[in-house]
Amino acid sequence: MKPLRIALTKGRLEKDTIGLLEQAGYDCTAVREKGRRLILPIGGGEIEVVLAKAADVITYVENGVCDLGVVGKDTIMENGRSFYEILFALAGKKGCDFYAGYNEKTIATKYPNVTRGFFEGKGMDIRIIKIEGSVELAPLLGLSDAIVDIVETGSTLKENGLVIIEDNVAAISARLIVNTASLKLRKREIEALADKMEQERKKIQ
Ligand code: PRP
Repeated sequence: MKPLRIALTKGRLEKDTIGLLEQAGYDCTAVREKGRRLILPIGGGEIEVVLAKAADVITYVENGVCDLGVVGKDTIMENGRSFYEILFALAGKKGCDFYAGYNEKTIATKYPNVTRGFFEGKGMDIRIIKIEGSVELAPLLGLSDAIVDIVETGSTLKENGLVIIEDNVAAISARLIVNTASLKLRKREIEALADKMEQERKKIQ
């Protein structure tokens, strides 16, 4: 399989992202010793890092020559066109006021660590129920008050009558963007990488 190609915004975002990837267990020696090289293998070569200017990261991802990109939210707002942003979001049933009442809330998720970190940051006690897939079922069936899950196109939420309550579960200005075709073809790999990076980021926050 071709390496998953991820474009990073040169500079601080590049350094932070490489730091996260290293913590997640990828060998990033090639990037650390890059000199003037712009395309570098990391891990066992299963990922290729491309170093570019912020707006160009979007161009490369949009055109599908890079599968993923890391850019600032500001760059997306200025240049955003057609790609998906990967968000970890808190979502619940349409019309339900998640924060109403004083009872302890129950959250269903595939990502308990990301979820724990988010609510700890808010100083809010919650109960987490680990669900293995199709997490959207949990609030629909009445098992949980909300979910924390990856949102890509947003269609799974919409088609199941759920809405985003907060999209800043990963409260950072940097965003992971993904090429629309890559998301279809390499969804599992991309989601696994997004999860690893988010878990490491929570640890250092
Ligand atoms: C992921 C995620 C959401 C959906 C989001 O699930 O957990 O359910 O994709 O994508 P969307 O915003 O484009 O609709 P996945 O398809 O990997 O299946 P799973 O829930 O069974 O793990």
